[in-house]
Amino acid sequence: MSWALIPLTEEQRAIQQTAREFANAELAPHSARWDRDASFDRDVVKKLADLGFLGMMIPEQYDGLGLDTCTYLVALEEIAAVDASVAVLMSVHNSLPTQMILRYGSEAQRTHFLTKMARGEWLGAFALSEPDAGSDAASLTTQAVRDGDDYVLNGVKAWVSHGSMADVILCMARTDTPAERKGARGISTFILTPDMVGLTTGKKEDKMGLRGDPTVQLALNDLRVPSANLLGEEGMGFVYAMQSLESGRLGIAAQSIGIARAALEASVAYAAERKQFGKAIKEFQGIQFKLADMATKVTASRALLHAAAAAKDRGQPVTQFASMAKLMATETAMWVTTQAIQVFGGYGYVKDYPVERLFRDAKVTEIYEGTSEIQRIVIARELYAKS
Ligand code: CAA
Repeated sequence: MSWALIPLTEEQRAIQQTAREFANAELAPHSARWDRDASFDRDVVKKLADLGFLGMMIPEQYDGLGLDTCTYLVALEEIAAVDASVAVLMSVHNSLPTQMILRYGSEAQRTHFLTKMARGEWLGAFALSEPDAGSDAASLTTQAVRDGDDYVLNGVKAWVSHGSMADVILCMARTDTPAERKGARGISTFILTPDMVGLTTGKKEDKMGLRGDPTVQLALNDLRVPSANLLGEEGMGFVYAMQSLESGRLGIAAQSIGIARAALEASVAYAAERKQFGKAIKEFQGIQFKLADMATKVTASRALLHAAAAAKDRGQPVTQFASMAKLMATETAMWVTTQAIQVFGGYGYVKDYPVERLFRDAKVTEIYEGTSEIQRIVIARELYAKS
């Protein structure tokens, strides 16, 4: 049921098939255990890398696959339909740190970091949020102070997906002084590596869902970062983060559609098997209406996402479309997984079937990379900007 309303090219269908086979063979047998134990096999990163799935949109000159956004999202949906934790790792790496270095990095930074990230030898993470700066990301307080050829960073970054496993972390910090606060324009982006003295992994969050992808705090204590690791221009870090989150939000939309589709497929199969009142429950209109609404929302979300991705690949501004795609797909994932549990009844509420995990995994999609409320703010602001 992974048909796309907007037809896929032959290359996209081949990549979709590869991703599906990989997910069924390498992820499906382990997903329940990773979820139960909040664990993850680092081998998976190597296996994703072998397929080129950690450099999907990086040009071939930096050892990536050089594919377009839509093709990447098709592969991501397949991974998410089987394991949403692996999908968020793939989404963050492909959409945020690699894209930031590609778009704003120097040639030296691209050659040093991007090639290894595209080959999947180095895993990337993104550190914007802080314990007291979530939706209001520009209020972050991690401070970077120039000292000779270095910057010295102090602060705490929060909610960093796979931050404990990352080899390269794109970190936003203030470079304005407390006396000359410049708001969003006082933020810069630094490329951190785990060998830097003063960078330590803090609390690992005990999460409701996406338990296979560790979410951690990072503590920066007198962390000395060479000025060669400043990304782009000083003061542009917030703008870089916002622009990159447009790609990130498309990735989270694809992840959400994968989760929703898996819940729909499981519900369709279960409704054909489960008998009550002498017949399969798919014979009841109450169930048919649910399945029809679930399928409609999944298909509409995917169509919007693929149209937004195509607009991005044509070079159109997609601030509003990316937020619309994320908003619709993530709320679809939450709604569809809720309905799936209702179709399964009591069996949906226990861990014997996958819908319980899908429901838990879906919730965070409405929160991270911008809550649904923030997406609505971005969409509404663009309405006025356009008028
Ligand atoms: N593209 C380019 N520039 C942008 C931009 C975009 N999409 N969005 C904002 N900017 C620019 C603005 O033009 C403005 O520039 P000027 O100074 O020249 O005017 C500057 O950035 C500040 O913008 P705003 O005035 O709009 O900033 P704001 O403080 O009002 O915040 C916001 C805007 C949309 C609410 C933003 O804070 C936001 O998106 N918040 C959500 C944060 C978020 O998504 N966090 C996710 C963290 S990552 C994660 O989830 C973890 C993970 O690993 C998965």
